[in-house]
Amino acid sequence: MALQSRRVSALSREIKLGDRVLLYQDVRRKWIAKVEPGRFHTHRGYFELAELVGREYGGSIRTSMGQNLAVFKPRALDIVESFDRPTQILYPKDIGYALFQLGIGNGDRVLEVGTGSGALTSALARGVAPDGQVFTYEMRPEFLRAARANVDKAGFGPLVTFHNEDPTEGFEEKEADAVVVDLGDPWRMVAAAWRALIGGGLLAGFTPTINQLEKLAVALREGGFMILEAVELLMREFKTEAGKIRPETRMIGHTAYVTIARKLLPASDV
Ligand SMILES: C[S@@+](CC[C@H](N)C(=O)[O-])C[C@H]1O[C@@H](n2cnc3c(N)ncnc32)[C@H](O)[C@@H]1O
Repeated sequence: MALQSRRVSALSREIKLGDRVLLYQDVRRKWIAKVEPGRFHTHRGYFELAELVGREYGGSIRTSMGQNLAVFKPRALDIVESFDRPTQILYPKDIGYALFQLGIGNGDRVLEVGTGSGALTSALARGVAPDGQVFTYEMRPEFLRAARANVDKAGFGPLVTFHNEDPTEGFEEKEADAVVVDLGDPWRMVAAAWRALIGGGLLAGFTPTINQLEKLAVALREGGFMILEAVELLMREFKTEAGKIRPETRMIGHTAYVTIARKLLPASDV
């Protein structure tokens, strides 16, 4: 058994025709490419993509002008960074934190309102794979189309059900483990979320302003939820050059407030 799993992991270390790979020059110059016949061009030369077949992930390839590109297996994050973005998308720090807070895992049923570009959708799909499902709602058909293309490109299509709908009056699905809400008026989704969740099910709301956070918090308390926390995550990047380790001069000052709540069932007499 141990031998067998080592064999499987050795196979998955090898680049195959049809794989999507991350070609990494530096933090600003990185690309996702499909391994298929044809050339991949950069401003520093090109190479034949099929030359990657049979090589091990983690190595590098040299372009016609001598530029080395590292070849990695892309993470969900790398693919999401390459998405077309017709809408604002959530930042990785907020997505990652919320996924952990929601306890997202294999087999979960997750409802999402505000598909947008599908960034959070993809992270949720990665989290519930291989047996779970994400049911995502978006009222603008053009955004839904873009999100579907992005999610398919990331390979998560089979894990996501798309609805071109405003679910304020109710979700089509019941017995959800979690609901995530990323839109301008999240308080309007509280009643529908409560009805769709299992007892103790979790909700994450993302709000850019304090006013929205307050309205959401009031609606959650009035709507049968217990608020676990509302947080703002500040992330400071560091320069990593030896002898010059210090924070970067600029940082992203504000993204979203993250509110985490749990559905409470009505009190019953003992
Ligand atoms: C900020 S974007 C979501 C971005 C997404 N979380 C991501 O990471 O890609 C908000 C989306 O919510 C959608 N939206 C707003 N109100 C809605 C509603 N009542 N029902 C469904 N979608 C809604 C908007 O059309 C927009 O695409």
